[in-house]
Amino acid sequence: MTMLKIQGLSAGYGAADVLHSVDFTVEQGTIVALLGANGAGKTTILRALSGLVPARGTIHFRGKDVSRCNAAQRVALGLAHIPQGRGTFGDFTVEENLAAGAFTVTDRRQIAQDMERWYAAFPRLAERRRQQAGSLSGGEQQMLALARALMSRPKLLMCDEPSLGLAPAITQEIFEIFKTLNREHDMTLLIVEQNADLTLQFADTAYVLESGSFTVSGAAAELLGNEAVQQSYLGV
Ligand SMILES: Nc1ncnc2c1ncn2[C@@H]1O[C@H](COP(=O)(O)OP(=O)(O)OP(=O)(O)O)[C@@H](O)[C@H]1O
Ligand SMILES: [Mg+2]
Repeated sequence: MTMLKIQGLSAGYGAADVLHSVDFTVEQGTIVALLGANGAGKTTILRALSGLVPARGTIHFRGKDVSRCNAAQRVALGLAHIPQGRGTFGDFTVEENLAAGAFTVTDRRQIAQDMERWYAAFPRLAERRRQQAGSLSGGEQQMLALARALMSRPKLLMCDEPSLGLAPAITQEIFEIFKTLNREHDMTLLIVEQNADLTLQFADTAYVLESGSFTVSGAAAELLGNEAVQQSYLGV
């Protein structure tokens, strides 16, 4: 089944578009990488999908046209977005951040169950549940951002630059978590990254964005070490 189908997506800030009619699809149960250099428009794609910037074109999510749904409605339908920089609330405790992630869920018992489920999956968060999010390490904050997004019971998890500011070993750990979520929790993932080599090792398919258009796409394994991918990063 196709989880996400984007056709002719254009978006920008003010007069000029930074995304130029992009098309792509995300199949259910896969990990898709969205790669590209600084300023290519990767974050703008995720914002357009989440309904955080106005966009033109069509967005079908699980067979439904969500182009006219607002951001909260898209979360309720199962589209979760972990923003670049993580977006956790530094003055809130770990637990309060998780509760905030469940803003579309009304069943209190379900919220409590989900919280325990993700504490079991992320023991470091469980140990720090009363600690302020701002005092967590970078890796712990990324885990919190991930767990907070999972509290909305997503079908598709979109994560913007998870490796930003993290040591290679911690980045590796985060990607292993993505793989576990994909394999054991039936999660579909769309990951925006600049760390192309690592991401291509974990992803099934990849798209490379350059100045608001896709230049290369295909099976991740085939794009590893691909010269055109490297060039799009170097901008040559
Ligand atoms: N709020 C904004 N107002 C005006 N222009 C913006 C805004 N946000 C982004 N842009 C511009 O849109 C273009 C694409 O930005 P975007 O953040 O989507 O790129 P990116 O691929 O995510 O880059 P990075 O890897 O640095 O995060 C850039 O030229 C940027 O300057
Ligand atoms: Mg970005």
